[in-house]
This record gives sequence, structure tokens and C-alpha cells, in this order.
Amino acid sequence: MEIRTVGVVGLGTMGAGIAQVSVQSGYDTVGREISEELNERARATVDRYLGRAVEKGRMSQDDKDAALGRLTLTTDLEDLAECDLVIEAIVEELEPKRELFTQLEEICRSDAILATNTSALSVTKIAEATQRPERVIGMHFFNPAPVLPLVEVVRTERSSDEAVDAAYAWAERAGKQPVRCNDTPGFIVNRILIPLLNDCVRVLDEAGVSPEDLDKAMTNGAGWPMGPCALLDLVGIDIHVHASEALHGALGEDRMAPPERLLRMQHEGKLGRKTGAGFFTYT
Ligand SMILES: NC(=O)c1ccc[n+]([C@@H]2O[C@H](COP(=O)([O-])OP(=O)(O)OC[C@H]3O[C@@H](n4cnc5c(N)ncnc54)[C@H](O)[C@@H]3O)[C@@H](O)[C@H]2O)c1
Repeated sequence: MEIRTVGVVGLGTMGAGIAQVSVQSGYDTVGREISEELNERARATVDRYLGRAVEKGRMSQDDKDAALGRLTLTTDLEDLAECDLVIEAIVEELEPKRELFTQLEEICRSDAILATNTSALSVTKIAEATQRPERVIGMHFFNPAPVLPLVEVVRTERSSDEAVDAAYAWAERAGKQPVRCNDTPGFIVNRILIPLLNDCVRVLDEAGVSPEDLDKAMTNGAGWPMGPCALLDLVGIDIHVHASEALHGALGEDRMAPPERLLRMQHEGKLGRKTGAGFFTYT
């Protein structure tokens, strides 16, 4: 099936970025938040990011205006009735997501693809809330969605090939680098990266290393483009801890559990770049 109109539900950090990706690549896009204020916040975010692209000469003012013109915002879920693909990016909690998918299936056409951007919940459990789980898949974008190319296209045992292939093709046309995977805890990147970053943090204490030296070691000795402490500060300590706890709950391996040091940082409000302090300080 051809995807022409895209819906995005939840326009926070991820949803606003996904809506931007969609309008930038020429798709009429309907975004839904729970209040007018949050809709306007999302429009301002997209406007600001596209404005930066114009300033840097990567986009013309006309293209920016056209992209923003393709974005319709609403608080009424019924306005997503004509969407061919709906991407959900609301809070990371199972019950609100299941409830939303039940509503979406009533509102959207029976052939619409319903995708969740969940990082750590089971796509299968979300799909089971609907009568047509074959139309439900995961589309896991990475933060910031307009910048990071990867999209993990996640299939459950009941997802149809057609839904997976159509979402994959759309992601490619939107300029992304999609990959396919099954619905397993952490999918691909988080399954590997989260325990690895937890190991890095444990090494700080076990080997008596400073965050500066740990980052120096991994960039110079392992060729990482960014050190683990700088990466954790960028991701957000709270986001990482939440994802670690979810993976630990699903897989039960000790390495998945967030290290004590990260829990302490979270408790102290040292969440990384967004709070001005994490492993490093930011002004
Ligand atoms: N932040 C990340 O790095 C990241 C990366 C990949 C995936 N994710 C996943 O994306 C999803 C969203 O994460 P986020 O960081 O953007 O969260 P966020 O808190 O920034 O945004 C969530 C938004 O959803 C809105 N919302 C809640 N219920 C709604 C509803 N029923 N209808 C419409 N809007 C609703 C909220 O008002 C909020 O603005 C989560 O499932 C998260 O796990 C996050």
C-alpha cells in the first residue's frame, strides 16, 4: 500500500521530531497532542529546527514554508481518520498505549498501519489490544529523530508482511535508514548499548577512572565517536535508567540493571545536558 498521509500521536521530544521528518519529506501530516498549548509548542519546535536548516543554507525558505504547511495539528483523535500510517509517541506506559491503539483502530481505516515508537515495551502487548494485530508494528526512531537516520521496524509474530514492508518503504522515502527486527526486549540497538553503557559506568568505580579518562579510553582505544559518559549525558540519565530497568525486568540479567552511580545521579537531578550537569557540566 502507498502511504500518503501520516498521523503522529504525542508531539513531545520524539513525536515533534517524527512529524518534522514526515513533513520535510513531503507527507501531509496530522499531529495530535492533548492540548492546544502542547500543539503550539510542537509547531514552534518544528519551526525552530527548520529555521536553523534555512540559516545554514540546507533548506530554502520556500521549502520550509511548504513543510510547515503540510503539518496540521489537532487535539481530536478523529482527525486522524484518513491517515495511512499513524505513529504513536506518547508516554512510555503500556496501558495508555493500549487504550490509544484501541481508539485508533476504531477511527482509522482497516488497512491503516498503526506503529508504536516504544523503546522498551512489548509491541505484541500493544498489538493485542486491537482486533487487527496484523496492522500493528513498531517504528523505533532515535533521538533526535530528524538527525539520527536509524529506524528499527519491529514486527510481532502477527504483523503482516505488507504492513512491515510499507512502513520500511516509507521510512526509506523519508530519508531514514530502516532495519527490520523481531519484537524482542530492547530490539537491536538498546539491547546491545544499554548493558554496554552500564558496564562502562561500573568501570568508573571498579577501576577508579575519571569520566574524562573513560571517554578518552573508549574514543582512542575502541574508536567510539563519542565517549560513554558524554553519550549518557546526551541521552539523559533518567531516560537511560528507565530503559535499563525495563530491559532488566524483561531479561533479568544483572548487567541490564542500572548501576548505583546512575541511580544516585538521577536522585540528585544530575540528568546530563538537559539539566546542565551529569558526568560533565554544561553552560
Ligand atoms: N526520548 C527518547 O530518547 C526516545 C527515543 C526513542 C523512543 N522513545 C519513545 O517515544 C515515546 C515518547 O517519548 P518522548 O521522549 O517523546 O516523551 P515526551 O514525554 O517528550 O512526549 C510524550 C508526549 O505525549 C503526549 N501525550 C500523552 N498522551 C497522549 C495522548 N493520548 N494523545 C496525544 N498525546 C499524548 C504528552 O502530552 C507529551 O507531550 C515513548 O514511548 C518513548 O519510550 C523515546
